[in-house]
Amino acid sequence: RQEPLILGIETSCDETGIGIVRGSTLLANVITSSMDEHARYGGVVPEVAARAHLEALEPALRAALAEAGVTLAELDAIAVTSGPGLSGALMVGVGAAKALAVALDKPIYAVNHLVGHVGADVLRTDGTSIELPTIALLVSGGHTSLLLVRDLVSDVELLGETIDDAAGEAFDKVARLLGLPYPGGPHIDRVAEGGDPKAIRFPRGLSQSKDMAKHRYDFSFSGLKTAVARWVEAKRDAGEDVPMADVAASFREAVADILLTKALAACAAYGIPRLLLGGGVVANARIRELAAERCAAAGVELRIPPLELCTDNGAMIAALGAQLVQAGFPPSTLDFSADSTL
Ligand code: KG4
Ligand code: ZN
Repeated sequence: RQEPLILGIETSCDETGIGIVRGSTLLANVITSSMDEHARYGGVVPEVAARAHLEALEPALRAALAEAGVTLAELDAIAVTSGPGLSGALMVGVGAAKALAVALDKPIYAVNHLVGHVGADVLRTDGTSIELPTIALLVSGGHTSLLLVRDLVSDVELLGETIDDAAGEAFDKVARLLGLPYPGGPHIDRVAEGGDPKAIRFPRGLSQSKDMAKHRYDFSFSGLKTAVARWVEAKRDAGEDVPMADVAASFREAVADILLTKALAACAAYGIPRLLLGGGVVANARIRELAAERCAAAGVELRIPPLELCTDNGAMIAALGAQLVQAGFPPSTLDFSADSTL
């Protein structure tokens, strides 16, 4: 019997993602982003994102079907992100998925966006496969979460997450205050290459011993952002030039350090010698470099899916759907809702 053919729909943030997989084979991964529309606001505007999904979804679906060379009738199931994410944005994808499921009389699976990021790993084509359990660090503009994944479909534990800004959001806000364009992450990354990461010691949020009881695996980036803002303001007030490269490098170092310190602490505490990275911030050169260094030193195997599978996409949702089907999970009933805090 052939592996299941699954359509995945992802609309939790600003990417409209339509993916089609057969089992763990990627057939199509169409992504339309509304990032440009949010640029002038300096961050994702929920209402704008939701409207953009409504416009992008149907063309993206047709493009994905054409790319995969399949018809809707051939699908075995539909998987859709039901949370976490922006409510209005999620509702567009959930509504579309339900409509398709009813019209085509196909089973539907509501899936968790964060677990989807982990599921993306099964689509790798380098002949390796994910070993479980693993610790997963997911960092994007919308989330910063540390997961313990024992089983992709039935046993995922949220160890910690950001209590304020997401890591990507912090990159975007610091970029803005340095006068760099949105989204700022790639710009900070580029400017930082010419700077000294030790020039300024910025705070590492939630790393003091007093934070450890309650927030051992949680993250906080708003204090870091404020510290950078104060430092830059003080320079400007004194009429001095702001050493952009040093600020960018020192900020980037602080983010990379705190992310990997906590991720590797979880690997050690749970005795799990594997770390998987996901989310758009994984594009960051220093985060990748420091992850490689620290994992090697700790004897932890580092897995980073290709970047197009790290950023938000529908293929990872389809892949997780396929895992659910193959594990014999019952489909969701149609009364599930979009859950922004899932
Ligand atoms: O996963 P993603 O593509 O989508 C959403 O979060 O919706 O992540 C986008 C985020 C943005 O905040 C962007 O600034 C950040 O990832 N980002 C980076 C880099 N490339 C993208 N942050 C740091 N360094 C980068 N090279
Ligand atoms: Zn994401």
